Amino acid sequence: MNRKELINIAIEAKKNSYSPYSRFRVGSALSCKNGKVFSGANVENSSYSLTVCAERTAILKAVSEGEKEFDTIVVATDAEELTPPCGACLQVIYEFNSKMKIILTNGKKSKNFVITDLLSYPFKFK
Ligand code: THU
Repeated sequence: MNRKELINIAIEAKKNSYSPYSRFRVGSALSCKNGKVFSGANVENSSYSLTVCAERTAILKAVSEGEKEFDTIVVATDAEELTPPCGACLQVIYEFNSKMKIILTNGKKSKNFVITDLLSYPFKFK
């Protein structure tokens, strides 16, 4: 799966966003080191704090299917300015790969990061 294909999966996943409250659609595509790909969309709730972000949707889908070795996650929105994962999602991404590649896209432009560009001082213990 190349970069462009992974980006397109995130853009497609954005169509499944359930975001009647914010109207902010987010899609994600998560590639595993073994080549599998999981997509995700944000899923909101009338009890706002129960909302699940697109990135965590994809990661929880993958982990619950037995995958934990991740390579790259793409975050797709419609925003003019590229939107990074929220702090909670960054922490969850870091949990599984402290060197995860992150691609932000809005369909018109895309930019590559690594997790530590966006989460420079992650929480960890042990
Ligand atoms: N959202 C995501 O899906 N990913 C993020 O990293 C940040 C925010 C969603 C949550 C909510 O449905 C909407 O964007 C507005 O905050």
